Amino acid sequence: MIKKAVIPAAGYGTRFLPITKALPKELLPIIDRPTIEYIVDEAIKSGITDILLIVSSNKNAIIDYFDYNIELETILLSKNKEEEYRMVRDIARGANLHFIRQKEQLGLGHAVLQAEAFIGNEPFAVLLGDDMYVTQKEPAIKQMMNAFEKTNASILGTMEVSYEDTYKYGICTPKTEKKGSLAELKDVVEKPDIEVAPSRSAIGGRYILTPTIFKYLKSQQRGKGNEIQLTDAILRLMKEEKVYSYDIDAKRYDVGNKLDYIEAIIDFGLEKEDLKEGLKEILKRKVK
Ligand code: G1P
Repeated sequence: MIKKAVIPAAGYGTRFLPITKALPKELLPIIDRPTIEYIVDEAIKSGITDILLIVSSNKNAIIDYFDYNIELETILLSKNKEEEYRMVRDIARGANLHFIRQKEQLGLGHAVLQAEAFIGNEPFAVLLGDDMYVTQKEPAIKQMMNAFEKTNASILGTMEVSYEDTYKYGICTPKTEKKGSLAELKDVVEKPDIEVAPSRSAIGGRYILTPTIFKYLKSQQRGKGNEIQLTDAILRLMKEEKVYSYDIDAKRYDVGNKLDYIEAIIDFGLEKEDLKEGLKEILKRKVK
């Protein structure tokens, strides 16, 4: 049973400068809730009980967001604003949140390595904050946790991208021709040049990893972008244990990408009872 999850949230957010000078990118709002809350909720809805957020020095606002705010709550109660009180009090209810600081940003692999003591010797989930999944079915990471029941081995959550986009992702090569959503892998490469991309099967920011990964992360040399890459450590793990890909069945938003981020806001707005009619009117006017 997978009970622990790691959410790396220590990146600089350069794609969203200048706002990320002062606001951690994980707190960029989808209307009234920050993107990271959706990631935390996905883990909670999947049955994860303990979540470790890996933050960096200028990200204290993330810790504050998930903490109680007694002053605000007292004011809300004194003004009989019960609904608002519940809303702020219920954030991330259902799991224990833990925080650790990554002292230097040496890459995703290095960030995940910070979780070693927290994870101990059990399989765990990793959810990247830039990747938001929306589905009426089971949450993305839960789909992978179900697959883990069968494989008992590490699984990379994947999706098909166009060849032109392969340079943005970790790209997987299945061992044999793919049949269905689960496939054993023989290779994975971080952000290959388009001309040499081995497939269109891209890692979409969700992982189930066995604790063996830490052995490889500890000795992992810098790779693409001069960073310690999780993908490179997974490739070395593959020589010792089986590693699978699993095609996630959900809509994905790369909220680190401005157009995807705007689309997420529109889609979420269209789901909100109090906003959807007004928003539809605005959209109709704009399209004309
Ligand atoms: C990271 C991973 C990459 C993965 C991607 C998914 O890259 O290194 O393998 O495909 O997340 O979003 P990043 O986008 O953080 O550069």
